[in-house]
Amino acid sequence: AEGDPAVGEKEFRKCKACHAIASADEVFVRGGPTGPNLYGVIGRTAGTTDFNYGASIVAAGEAGLVFDVDNIQDYMTDARGFLQTYLDDPKAKTKMTFKMKSKQADVAAYLATFSDA
Ligand code: HEM
Repeated sequence: AEGDPAVGEKEFRKCKACHAIASADEVFVRGGPTGPNLYGVIGRTAGTTDFNYGASIVAAGEAGLVFDVDNIQDYMTDARGFLQTYLDDPKAKTKMTFKMKSKQADVAAYLATFSDA
């Protein structure tokens, strides 16, 4: 189902403890520094900002993982499980232990408003 970006904007308060949304010249969401900047994340290869990522998400990006409005819902629900499946590696790990339990499609639609993809 299509997500609602206005609902996603409200839900993003759960993410902004760790994630900002900021382009080169504008801060859209002031967020904590614990996670990477999510500006443009839809359409972006995983693990490719200047953030100090864990090895598994970098490996997933190198294997071709590009976030879209579908796969990012699975990622935010269970990042570790997602990477284990994507990499077919039961030892895959994540630095993102937060799990989004609801409204994933709405958050995905909201994040897509910060991408051309
Ligand atoms: C990574 C989304 C909540 C900490 C990521 C990435 C996405 C994402 C898409 C990968 C970005 C990239 O490859 O550049 C979200 C969303 C959230 C959320 C949509 C809310 C629904 C959180 C929270 C925390 C957190 C609350 C901290 C408690 C991190 C960290 C990483 C990360 C540390 C890096 C993962 C790694 O290196 O393995 N997040 N996140 N996130 N997030 Fe979140």
